[in-house]
Amino acid sequence: MSTPSLREALRAHTDAEHQALHRHAAFDGLFRGTLDVVGYRALMIRLYGFHTPLDRAIMETLAGRPAPDSGYRYAPRAPLLAQDMQALGAPGGTPPLCPGARALVTPDTIGGVLYVLEGATMGGSQIDRAAHRLLGHDGPAGRRYWAWCRAEGKHRWPLTLRHLDHLQSTGAPLPPLLHGALGTFRLLADWLAPLDLPAPIPQARRA
Ligand code: HEM
Repeated sequence: MSTPSLREALRAHTDAEHQALHRHAAFDGLFRGTLDVVGYRALMIRLYGFHTPLDRAIMETLAGRPAPDSGYRYAPRAPLLAQDMQALGAPGGTPPLCPGARALVTPDTIGGVLYVLEGATMGGSQIDRAAHRLLGHDGPAGRRYWAWCRAEGKHRWPLTLRHLDHLQSTGAPLPPLLHGALGTFRLLADWLAPLDLPAPIPQARRA
């Protein structure tokens, strides 16, 4: 049997975590049409808090390495999410930022992290259609991040796969790459977990 490609290994190793994200209440509600705009705004604020430290960690880590010769370039996500938060009327100030991103991204793990973040653009295309239905207007305001996933993901994904092939052909060790991919999925699932909580039970009214 031939050796699996790095992408195949990453996909097999993270399939359960990927499937679990589909069942997350916020995404599930968006697809079913049961999430309201307030819930959607909470999701976008949380995603901003996830991607901001991750963007920084990725940019710092890539700057310390020779540019990959696969043509791959990272594009920070947080600026798009910041525009969406603003369009959705999020309160001013910096929302909580996800701890753990800095520790996850190292020169040895970053390929796995990028696999997850670039793969997410494929789900993002589908989420864009659901967000479009929810927001009810044709302009991209409030869903610029998803619209970007839809427009750019199909170009970025082949470059990402080429980058993974490059890592494999240069003998990059597999365990840290698997750790980076699994760690990114888990970090996101943990970070989004508070949105999965049931709505608080209203206080009993005083007689
Ligand atoms: C919740 C809504 C989501 C949906 C509906 C969704 C759906 C999809 C679909 C349809 C694909 C393409 C599968 C293929 O062509 O073989 C895909 C791939 C992928 N998605 Fe998601 N996704 C979602 C969320 C996410 C999130 C939040 C992440 C990561 C943070 C993610 C990471 C990935 C990765 C890494 C791949 C590439 C898998 C491979 O190697 O083929 N997805 N997703």
